[in-house]
Amino acid sequence: MKRILVTGSNGQIGCELVPYLRKIYGADNVLATARSKKPGPVSEGGPFELLEVRDGKTFSKLMSDYKIDTVIHLAGILSARGENNPQESWDINAGGCFTALECAREHGAAFFFPSSIAAFGPSAPADNTPQVTIQRPTTIYGIAKVTGELLCDYYHLKFGLDTRGLRFPGLISYEAPPGGGTTDYAVHIYYEALSKGKYTSYIAPGTYMDMMYMPDALEAVVQLMEADPKRLENRNAYNISGMSFAPEDIAASIKKLIPSFEIDYDVDPDRQAIADSWPNSLDCSAAVEEWDFSPRYDLDSMTKDMLEKLKSRTQECAR
Ligand code: SER
Repeated sequence: MKRILVTGSNGQIGCELVPYLRKIYGADNVLATARSKKPGPVSEGGPFELLEVRDGKTFSKLMSDYKIDTVIHLAGILSARGENNPQESWDINAGGCFTALECAREHGAAFFFPSSIAAFGPSAPADNTPQVTIQRPTTIYGIAKVTGELLCDYYHLKFGLDTRGLRFPGLISYEAPPGGGTTDYAVHIYYEALSKGKYTSYIAPGTYMDMMYMPDALEAVVQLMEADPKRLENRNAYNISGMSFAPEDIAASIKKLIPSFEIDYDVDPDRQAIADSWPNSLDCSAAVEEWDFSPRYDLDSMTKDMLEKLKSRTQECAR
């Protein structure tokens, strides 16, 4: 990667990945794009352009203007929001991916695609879900993610494009809250632990899902994109995860640092149904074998860091 274009730069991953990439590759070599411009490091810390991912003409022009050799395609709509408008979700998630791949093909650029645990459905083995197994997701988000994985395979096979991808679990970060996802509870719980000392979970106790702390996710993207291509057997959709937990586990982890913290439950049947259709835990051995995936954070070390970072941010705001 030398000259990188990132789509969806204002999103949960983008707003942290853009500054991270700029530190490694140089600010001028990372073009952030998004549908709207917001003040902050993404639009002010290096080049920024407005881009709607389905607009192939503007996309292609930006690739020429900035001599892009790598596209990190993050723009998308998360699972729960997608169920409220399946047509829009398909259009942006699958249509946007197709447009982005076409632009990458036209310019011979490498391509990163963020797939998800949502690419599995209730018929896949739920525990230690294998790298290669049945994929029959029941959300429109998951259907678009499987489509993206297959399109990336196709562009690699047919056109020799250097496509690579990760199946992200729920991502937890203190920089930007996610919007419209099913795993979002595991982010909100930290904010409310500090502001209210309690949290009402919309996900039921006993519901296990894979999760990962954002610093590990950022490192994984760069590690995969810089990996030796000869080692990449499963190049377009590696299972990755930092930990698997249920709401009561994250609550217990918070309680170790905030003993008065309490959790209760008001289950949202729609998001619960999505969570129930996803794996409990992923088998990540292909990522370990093929590009040395090694996440650093477990639940307790993530909780400690999240609470410290959020607390110092609240103190800064209060000053
Ligand atoms: N975190 C995502 C969601 O909940 C899953 O990829 O939609």
